[in-house]
Amino acid sequence: MRLARAYPVDDRHIHDTAVIHPYVVVDMIPSASPSLARAGHAERLLSIGPRTEIMPFALLYRGAHIGSDCLIGNHATVREQATIGDRCIIGQYVCISYDAELADEVRVQNGTLIADGWKVGRGTFIGVNVSTMSDRRRDVVDYEFKGSCPSVIGERCLIGSGAVILPGITIGNDVVIGAGALVTKDIPDGATVLGQPSRVMGTEQQAQMIAQRAMAQALANYQNITRDTDQWDGSGARQRA
Ligand SMILES: CC(C)(COP(=O)(O)OP(=O)(O)OC[C@H]1O[C@@H](n2cnc3c(N)ncnc32)[C@H](O)[C@@H]1OP(=O)(O)O)[C@@H](O)C(=O)NCCC(=O)NCCS
Repeated sequence: MRLARAYPVDDRHIHDTAVIHPYVVVDMIPSASPSLARAGHAERLLSIGPRTEIMPFALLYRGAHIGSDCLIGNHATVREQATIGDRCIIGQYVCISYDAELADEVRVQNGTLIADGWKVGRGTFIGVNVSTMSDRRRDVVDYEFKGSCPSVIGERCLIGSGAVILPGITIGNDVVIGAGALVTKDIPDGATVLGQPSRVMGTEQQAQMIAQRAMAQALANYQNITRDTDQWDGSGARQRA
């Protein structure tokens, strides 16, 4: 283990084969500032699994767990009580917030925030600059922390870049969220959603589009037929052939 640190930490929970590059902050203690709505707390030591590599300037909080064979990018932050499974890739400037849980083989691209308490299923890919949040209350002036309202993302999903996903949403397995989508409602297994607010593409919506196209085609055919056969008198009234 190569460890650059400015103060002593208990590294018994960091595997010998983990690679910690220079300028990584290891075992950061969460702030207990009274100005915070929710004071940080860490119930366990930071742990890092075998062969995981932490790139320079990452910030790893006390209480976080990072599994084996992961890559944590430059300037990424992993907050207290966050759990990252095995073989995950966390991009540059990503923040995995407190209490978030990422299963194995999750990939999160640069600049994305995974909000507190969110759960992400195995094999899910999250694009760049995806916004997530865990609070859907309006009364933020005299804000008092009353617990998170996280969302859940299933397994093998693709979350397109720039998507915004509101709190308290359940996203099924094998879901595709288009780039730039604004997700406001639950998404069933296997669905593709696009747009702001996002709507399901495929299955039901595709069937509607096909039906509309079929109706438009039938109308055009009818107009072509009647154009050749119908007659209009001098007053403009149609006379059937
Ligand atoms: C949603 C997505 C998977 C659809 O891909 P596709 O099945 O190949 O779809 P197409 O490109 O054939 O487009 C089909 C229709 O959807 C529209 N569309 C495609 N992506 C869209 C999006 N993100 N938002 C809104 N509409 C979209 C197209 O304009 C097209 O409309 P049309 O039928 O009226 O012409 C893809 O466009 C996408 O957003 N992928 C995410 C990419 C990404 O962010 N990856 C992360 C990399 S870090």
